[in-house]
Parts: sequence; structure tokens; C-alpha cells
Amino acid sequence: MAKGKVDALLGIVFGDEGKGKVVDVFTPKYDIVARFAGGPNAGHTIIFEGKKFVLRSIPSGIFDKDKVNIIGNGCVIAPDLFMAEAQELEAAGYNLRGRLHISKRAHLILPTHRVLDRAYEAAKGKNKVGTTGKGIGPTYSEKASRTGLRVGDILDNFQQKYETLKARHAQILRDLNYEYDISDEEKKWLEGVEYMRGFQLTDTEIEINKALAEGKNVLAEGAQGTMLDIDHGTYPFVSSSNTVSGGVCTGLGVGPNAIGEIFGIFKAYSTRVGSGPFPVELFDETGDKIREIGHEYGAVTGRNRRCGWVDLVALKYAIMINGVTQLIMMKSDVLDGFDTIKACVAYEKDGVVTADMPYDTEGWKAVYRELKGWKSDLTNLTSESQFPQAFRDYISFLEQEAGIPITIVSVGPDRAQTIVRG
Ligand code: IMP
Repeated sequence: MAKGKVDALLGIVFGDEGKGKVVDVFTPKYDIVARFAGGPNAGHTIIFEGKKFVLRSIPSGIFDKDKVNIIGNGCVIAPDLFMAEAQELEAAGYNLRGRLHISKRAHLILPTHRVLDRAYEAAKGKNKVGTTGKGIGPTYSEKASRTGLRVGDILDNFQQKYETLKARHAQILRDLNYEYDISDEEKKWLEGVEYMRGFQLTDTEIEINKALAEGKNVLAEGAQGTMLDIDHGTYPFVSSSNTVSGGVCTGLGVGPNAIGEIFGIFKAYSTRVGSGPFPVELFDETGDKIREIGHEYGAVTGRNRRCGWVDLVALKYAIMINGVTQLIMMKSDVLDGFDTIKACVAYEKDGVVTADMPYDTEGWKAVYRELKGWKSDLTNLTSESQFPQAFRDYISFLEQEAGIPITIVSVGPDRAQTIVRG
């Protein structure tokens, strides 16, 4: 029986909740920080010692010199992008060797997976998912079709396996009449494969379970968000992995009884990148104002994020699916200037009103509850006792609806602007 625990820190809406800012508040409590799903579609922006880093595949515990960081079996990894990310960290003085371990079971994103991602999106026309173009979908599809390449393949007769899969992709792309040229990209990619050999490519599930048996604690760092989960998100406008807490077990190889706290992170409002249903989306100047004040532009793709009020239908569904035990509310200060703040409490379509997440998420409209805005600057606040009454009311309302506490509230971009509630 494991003595240690795996706590999870999960984005519970459409991703981009700002996990990067709180993760270093969390990491000191853990021995291992592990990614369990997704790949370079994630973009965790972290400001550390005054310098900004965007982590895509590497866990956020990398800034803390004592932590072991694990890229788990549920992840997909692009060697060229991994190399660029790791080299930037090494150049900034962070020594990764020996404390960044990659699962041999994680799948490799080939350059041709990225081409396939683009080709499939182009073929979908107006129904495109709006993927990040990083080859995520084709790589996970290949994992499920049992034809993929894993990190462990790097260690044995790799070139031949690579050429075989590349040829298979070339055939699919020929059938699609899709023209492409990966010569430069492929060179970097193969360089990345060599570079990866310098890291510990291991059986991370065994390592994690041994650590748990010794009483060590693990932080499972989520990517994307619950509404982008392949099973529980707004399918087909989702990513291709299980981003929910269940994915922690499969993506790291730990039993459910090893799971401890589930921290669900959300913003005081909502955003979404890419296509798909988004009932709270604001097409007016309020949406533009939220985007501008909140700097809601994608960390990976630079795209404008779609913005809207907080969505309690999605939030409550995510709390249920993940078994969230504590909530963390980010970017509260973005709403400082609004007279009225709205919260979506139900969806409505053709006279039907529901507070439960519907199967067909298309075509539903948000039903709102209006709350009074606090109209004051939260960014200088350092403790809960200084919260204006209207902001307290907003928090209480969300807690009451959610049925669980909001234990951390963020009131600004700086690490210091993070208030842990008593
Ligand atoms: P994919 O994961 O690149 O296949 O993209 C599928 C959908 O998930 C698209 O709508 C993306 O915009 C969205 N997505 C993927 N990763 C992230 C993320 O880290 N944050 C927000 N949205 C994401």
C-alpha cells in the first residue's frame, strides 16, 4: 500500500487557467512533479526569477533543483520541441539531466504526425477542431491503432522503425493529395531524438510507485482542461487524451487509492481557444474587454481566446467528473472594472433549461445570474480580510453552487498576488 499520495492540479474548464502561476506555490510540498497527459499543445507560462518561460512538455517542477520531474506514459512528446524547450532551460542555468525522467511508454510525435494534423484539419473544412497543429490527434490515434512509436523505441533499432512509420504516413498523405516538405523539420527532429538519449528514459510507473511506497508525494500536473477531455469534453471539439483525474491513474500508472487531493483550477471568467460550443461566449465589447485586460491570447498558437462569463454548468460537471476537492480561482482582478458580473447557472435550448452538462453541447444558450461587481482594485490585496464585500459575495456564490471551497484566489499576475484562504 502506497504511503505517499498523488495530488492532482487540473485545469477544469477549457485549459489556460493559469496553472503555471500556482504550480510553484505547490511544488515545494512534493518530491516529484509529473505530467500525465497531452504534449506540446500545452503552454504553461511561468515567470521564474524574473524570466518568462513557456513549458510545453516539461513539468513545472523543473525550476526547483531538488525535484524529480516525470513525463509520464500518458503523454506524447515531440523530440525537436522537447530539445528546444530543454535547451532554453539549460541555457538559463537549470540542470535537467538526472532529474527529468521520461517514460519509455510515452508516444513520439513524428514530423509527419504534424503534417497529418494539418491535412485532417484542412479536410474537415468548417468543421475543423482548430487544433494547435502539434500532431496530438494523429499521435494518440496511432497509439490506439497500435502502430505508434514510443520513447522506448529510441533505444532499439530506431531508424528502421521510424522509416517504416514515416512511409505509412506518406502513403496516407498521398491518398489525401496533401503536399508537404518536412526536410528541415525532420533534421531537427532526428537531432532531438539523439538529444533525448541524454535523459533518463525509464519505466516511470515503477519509479513513481516505489517513491509512493517510500512515503514520497507526487504532484500530477494537468494539461488542457476537462472540457477538452476526449471522453467528457465537447466532443469532437476536444483534445485527444484524458485530461481528467482518471487520466492521472492511466497516464502515470498509479492506482486510484494513491490519489489524494484534486485541485481544480478555473478563472473568474471563461475562455476557449479553437472551435466548438461555448455557450457563455461574449461577442460584444464586454468579451473584448475581458480579452484585453486578461491578455487572453494563446501561449502556443497566439490565437485570440474566446471570452465569456464563468460557466457553472461546466464547472459543476468538471467537479463531478474529477472528484475535485478544492477550487483555485485565477485572474479575479480581470473583473475589477465591471459594474455587473454574470455567472451562467444553466443552459437553455428550445424552451428546455438544464443545469446538467448536455450530451450535445451545440446550440445551447447561457442562462445568467447577475451579481454586483466590486469595482475596485484587487491587485494590491494581500489577505482575505481586505476583500471588498461584492467580491466576497461572488466567491460565496460560486462556492455555494460548486459545493466545495475555493481555497486559493489569485488577484494578479505576480506570484505574490496569490491569496491562500484560511
Ligand atoms: P489539439 O490538442 O492540438 O489536438 O487541439 C484540440 C483542441 O484543444 C483545440 O481546440 C485546441 O485549441 C485545444 N487545446 C489544446 N491544448 C490546449 C491548451 O493547452 N489550452 C487550451 N486549449 C488547448
